Amino acid sequence: MSSYIIEGGRRLEGNVNISGSKNASLPIMAASVLNGGITKLYNVPPIRDTQMMIEILKELGCKVKRTNKKIEIDSSNINKFSISENLMREMRSSVILAGAILGKYRKATFTYPGGCDIGTRPIDLHLKSFEKLGIKINENYGNIICDCDKIIGTKIDLDFPSVGATENIILASCLADGTTIINNAAREPEIIDLQEFLNKMGAKVRGAGTDIIEIQGVKKLKDVSYNIMPDRIETGTFLCAGAITGGNVKVMNVVPSHIVPVISKLEEANCKINVGKDYIELNAPKKLKSIDIKTMPYPGFPTDMQSIFVALLSTAKGTSIVVENIFENRYKYVQELSRMGARITVEGKTAIIKGTKKITGTNVKATDLRGGAAMIIEALVAKGVTRIEEIKYILRGYCNIDEKLRKIGAKIYKQD
Ligand code: EPZ
Repeated sequence: MSSYIIEGGRRLEGNVNISGSKNASLPIMAASVLNGGITKLYNVPPIRDTQMMIEILKELGCKVKRTNKKIEIDSSNINKFSISENLMREMRSSVILAGAILGKYRKATFTYPGGCDIGTRPIDLHLKSFEKLGIKINENYGNIICDCDKIIGTKIDLDFPSVGATENIILASCLADGTTIINNAAREPEIIDLQEFLNKMGAKVRGAGTDIIEIQGVKKLKDVSYNIMPDRIETGTFLCAGAITGGNVKVMNVVPSHIVPVISKLEEANCKINVGKDYIELNAPKKLKSIDIKTMPYPGFPTDMQSIFVALLSTAKGTSIVVENIFENRYKYVQELSRMGARITVEGKTAIIKGTKKITGTNVKATDLRGGAAMIIEALVAKGVTRIEEIKYILRGYCNIDEKLRKIGAKIYKQD
């Protein structure tokens, strides 16, 4: 069980190269099933979740080669159409494979992904959408068995702009008979990346980034090479690391337009921000100002930055209010931050953060991916040493975060 050991109180200064996006890589890797051929992907971050996706693709019969620059997937010999329960539980986002397998092979068996670190993570919107596309769904003994003769394009109105459901509908519809229209689609940048990738394969997808997406079914999809977009949440995480330490951090190889709400909240907290074509430079004040935040679907403030901002605001001047509107159980990390002296009370969807100077190092346990990131942010400003255990959650979504932090002055190292 690995840990991070962090000695706080150091001002961070310097440049950070941001890695490729976890949440763009996963649906695009799943989509490699659709062309029954070769997919070459560049800038996929070497993290646990992308490694898990490689394992699942291999379990289906794909040949996968990974070098440090490229992942090559050969999906010409897929011979299995089911995802095992332990892999579904291990990584909830494996449900995005369902749409791809159904889209190509018209059959798929999987289980409920399991939930609870940040919420129940239901997939009712995914299943309802599959049924609208003509897919028959039977559930027994924990298995969800889907099949159909053909997938027929149709109009789908999503009750909620679910990222995963939007991605699954797109993947299931690329090779359908006819056209599918998604209303109230999720507008996240990762969906635009998926659209660009699929269209390079020869699909006909348009409207990603808006709430109406149209997918015109085609007969066949071809081999493709693609470069994954930068990770917008890693970008925000490093900006917050600079902000909480009164530092000066420049994040490179990023798309500033992907994190406008994060930039504006950091400016509201009194950080000076200079935005370039592919970089963002932050200069933090000695003391941040308290601010209020409400998480919303894109282009609103991202839920994945909620815990990181709660940690950031634990030392701000005054009281901040954060409302989590996307997941119903995304404050589990708060109890760990409180052990470090953070003064946070949670009432339902709302966290009230009273700024304090008295943040001190102690032993904490990562509860989930972004909760673990919040503990790193807190530890950077804590007096003394913090040990963060269960960092397997952090390694799911951040590539070499300790090395990147050391490069800009943090005292952090991994202990196995
Ligand atoms: C994606 O999860 C991301 N994961 C999450 O990032 C991100 O927090 C989330 O989108 C919201 O932006 C990946 O892209 C791999 P949703 P997803 O479907 O697709 C409810 C991270 O830290 N819902 O948009 O699972 C759901 O319970 C991860 O990188 C239903 O009720 O998110 C939640 O309350 C965490 N029924 C809300 O919608 C459904 O069928 C948003 O979920 C589907 C979702």
